[in-house]
Order: sequence, then C-alpha cells, then structure tokens
Amino acid sequence: MIERPRRLRSTAAVRRLVRETHLVPSQLVLPMFVAEGLTEPRPITSMPGVVQHSRESARRAYAEAVSLGLGGVMLFGVPEHKDAQGSGALDPEGILNLAIADARAEVGDDLLVMSDLCLDEFTDHGHCGVLDAQGRVDNDATVEIYGRMGVAQAQAGAHVVGPSGMMDGQIDVIRRALDAAGHEDVVVLAYAAKYASAFYGPFREAVDSSLQGDRRTYQQDPGNRRESLRETLLDVEQGADIVMVKPAMSYLDVVADVRAIVDVPVAAYQVSGEYAMVEAAAAQGWIDRDRAIDESLLSIRRAGADIVLTYWAAEVARRLQR
Ligand code: PBG
Repeated sequence: MIERPRRLRSTAAVRRLVRETHLVPSQLVLPMFVAEGLTEPRPITSMPGVVQHSRESARRAYAEAVSLGLGGVMLFGVPEHKDAQGSGALDPEGILNLAIADARAEVGDDLLVMSDLCLDEFTDHGHCGVLDAQGRVDNDATVEIYGRMGVAQAQAGAHVVGPSGMMDGQIDVIRRALDAAGHEDVVVLAYAAKYASAFYGPFREAVDSSLQGDRRTYQQDPGNRRESLRETLLDVEQGADIVMVKPAMSYLDVVADVRAIVDVPVAAYQVSGEYAMVEAAAAQGWIDRDRAIDESLLSIRRAGADIVLTYWAAEVARRLQR
C-alpha cells in the first residue's frame, strides 16, 4: 500500500500542520441584544449564557470584544415600546441608536460596530417592515424607512449596517441614502440569502417579539437553492460590500454556492436556534459541548464563509487565546 492517509493523522503535531480550516477571533462577530430600561442584564431562557444587556453591561462586553480581538459586534435593540411603524428605529434616542453610540464611544475604530437594519425589533406586529391596508408587508414603503434607518445608524456611529429584512431593492436604497448623507465609508453587510426559518425561534424571546403570521412572503423557502444565487447577485449589483447567508448550519450548500459566485467576502449567521440546540443537548450531557461548538463553526468556515456571526464568538476567542 502506497497511499496511507492515516499517516497525516498520526500525531497532534501533524494534524495541526495539515489542518485546512482555522477559527480566528478576527473572523468572528458577536451578536448582542441591548434592552431599553434595564439596569441589570437579563438572561434569555432559550439561549443559556446569552443575555439582554443593559447599556452599562453592554459597554463592558464591547471592551471585552476588543481585548479578545473579535471582528465586531452586531447590535440588536430591544425597545420598551413598539408600534406599527417601528418608529423607535429612526429615533436618535431609540435604544439601538444609543447602543451604537455607546459602542462606538467605547471602542473607537478598534472593533467594528455593526447594527441590524430591520424593523422587526421595533414593530408591535413583529414583521420586518410596515404593513399596507391589507396587512401585507409593504416593500417599497419599508425600504424607504430602511434608507432613513441606515442614515440614523451611521450618524450614531455604526461602521457596518446589516439590512436583514429581505425587501426587494433594499441595498440600493440604503446605499444611496448613506452616500447622500456623506456616509460613503459605511459598509453594507447584506443578509443576501435569508430563509424563513424555524431556527430563529429563540431570537423572538431575545427581542421580546411576538410575530403575527409568518415571514414566508419575504424570506426564502427552505427548499430553494438557486434562488439564493439570484438574491446574492442582486445585492452585489446594488452595492453590498459583504453578503451573508442565514441560518448557517442547515444551509451550508448555499454558503458554498455563494462563495463560488461572488468575489466579495461571505458571512454566515449561526442563528439562535442553532445555538440553543447545541446548548440544550450539551446540558443533557448528550454531546461534548466545546467540541460540538468548534465543529459547527469549522463546518461553516469550511463551506466557504470568511466571517461567522455566532453567539459563541467571545467564548471561542477566549479559548483560542489560551
Ligand atoms: C431581523 C433578524 C433576525 C435575526 C437576525 N436579524 C430575526 C428574524 O429574521 O426573524 C435572527 C437571528 C437569530 O435567530 O439568531 N431583525
């Protein structure tokens, strides 16, 4: 026998030498929830270890993210009051815009401050946009609000905005609005291929949202693969600097496809339900938690994601530092 692949697996040293894919803190982004009116962080039951931050506790987490060398933080706001228009999203004193400003004051340019650009945390019906008279999500009225929301986030200090609503034409409108307001350097990280997924379940608790109906008229059908390429190419044409696939683990084929057709960086979002599944199984003693976390992240990187958004970002970076 000439070919013995086991030769390159025989010691930890040789395995280290030939490993193709690595996790590095600079490619991990930590999603964070900042809630209005909290004085103490509040645990999220369905995401053990993840909290709704107060503005104060969030500041400590931003500083820690810098010291860990993370790629960035992706901020979500949890407002005390929601309404049909999601007006808290545009208010410079709205919780998300305040959190962006806090983060920027804390980290300067040492860490990328990213913000979710979507209305669902701010609307009382839980949809990503405003509704028309028939109760449908009104695409064009929504993207007009997204443009203004992007400018508000840029003014608050966001380095990167992350439109996640899957409205048609949203990247074009946001890019133009940012440029017109003098924010040419603000990066657009487009949730390009985003599926109507059951894996966002725990996120609802994280942002105190109860969704009326579902998202299937604007987020993608889990049965579709080619559609992601169309969505991604449209976003790149409209000026997306980075494109993202979401969720990650159930869509690794899509990550690989997207990586193959674009020359911009590709991100993938390991969402709340992916986190919750591993934590729940580990809490039962059914899987080795740390190994399962690393394996899940490696799979996403191996599929072709340059950047991974994960609720384990700080923990994994801490482990990599040791
Ligand atoms: C939209 C948004 C969502 C997530 C990220 N941005 C919720 C949704 O689309 O339903 C989900 C993230 C997660 O589940 O961890 N604001």
